[in-house]
Amino acid sequence: MANEVRWGIVGCGGIAAKFAGCLPAVEGATLAGVASRQQAKADEFAAKHSAERAYGSYEALLAADDVDAVYVATPHPMHDEPVRAALRAGKAVLCEKPFSINQERVAETVALARDLGVFCMEAMWTRFLPTSGQVREWLAAGAIGEPILASANFAFRAGFDPASRLFDPDLGGGGLLDVGVYTIAYANMLLSALPEQVTGLATLGETGVDEVAGYVLSYPGGRLATLSCAVRVSSPQSARIDGTAGRIEIPNFWNGSRATLSAEGQEPVTVELPHDLNGFEYEVREVHRCLAAGLTESPAMPLDETLATAGVMDALRQQWGLRYPME
Ligand SMILES: NC(=O)c1ccc[n+]([C@@H]2O[C@H](COP(=O)([O-])OP(=O)(O)OC[C@H]3O[C@@H](n4cnc5c(N)ncnc54)[C@H](OP(=O)(O)O)[C@@H]3O)[C@@H](O)[C@H]2O)c1
Repeated sequence: MANEVRWGIVGCGGIAAKFAGCLPAVEGATLAGVASRQQAKADEFAAKHSAERAYGSYEALLAADDVDAVYVATPHPMHDEPVRAALRAGKAVLCEKPFSINQERVAETVALARDLGVFCMEAMWTRFLPTSGQVREWLAAGAIGEPILASANFAFRAGFDPASRLFDPDLGGGGLLDVGVYTIAYANMLLSALPEQVTGLATLGETGVDEVAGYVLSYPGGRLATLSCAVRVSSPQSARIDGTAGRIEIPNFWNGSRATLSAEGQEPVTVELPHDLNGFEYEVREVHRCLAAGLTESPAMPLDETLATAGVMDALRQQWGLRYPME
């Protein structure tokens, strides 16, 4: 199986370190290079994570012949440029969530990837966790009857810093794009469909971005998801799916290793599925699997879903009167 993949990382920030850290758990993965806007930062990151090369510009890494796939880990509004450049260079792309800041931008990149026939996927790592697989298995087996009502919350308390990417509108700040995106993707998985309608409310803070938000999505067949996210309060970050004959609860749904099935008339069953390493290895293995199979999209996290989710977030921001300066 042709699953040797030489990875490059664009942007040596916080989450890039986690990505680099998972690669030892992925058979056939090599960290071929890392790129920062500053050579010294790239050098330091490369030394720490045993990357073969360190590049002082994103362009230099994207021009390297010995890089097959690129992980883009810049702030949300800075995803498009390196993603499109990587696609044009024929490199497979795994781009951090949210794929871009609005649907128009997502659509442009998706069209490019499809025209070029180059693999591209939003790094919705939660989709590939063992707990997510277990939940899908239970749902497919009808363990809770018909799934009707999904709920998910992803709230955390970040220290207020108007210059940070969580609060600065120029960096795509706000809870929805940063963590609300997980709740939408998870609801899509729990209800095995894409949403039809969305309505929500948000509290915008002093920098003008959403700090606390609640939103309801409707799905075909009258099914609903009640979701929330925040960057100013902490919560258990749990998800649940209620069906006609039971429910499934997933604590820390976005990174967790436990799920409980409570089927009507039966004792609850809890499974513990610890990550092999840090949890990112599953999405990377999916990229390897897709590349080896000659796929240009992951059937489990297709670009149509990324497009739909961007549309949901656009609609919510429009309802809230939140528009980013670069839009
Ligand atoms: N999957 C997850 O669990 C997860 C968790 C956290 C974040 N994320 C996603 O990953 C992306 C990056 O988040 P992060 O927390 O890693 O951010 P971060 O620590 O601020 O790192 C972002 C990196 O992007 C580069 N960059 C390029 N242009 C920039 C600009 N104008 N301002 C600031 N940095 C710029 C910088 O790298 P150089 O200086 O090296 O060029 C910076 O270190 C976001 O889209 C976020 O949603 C995902």
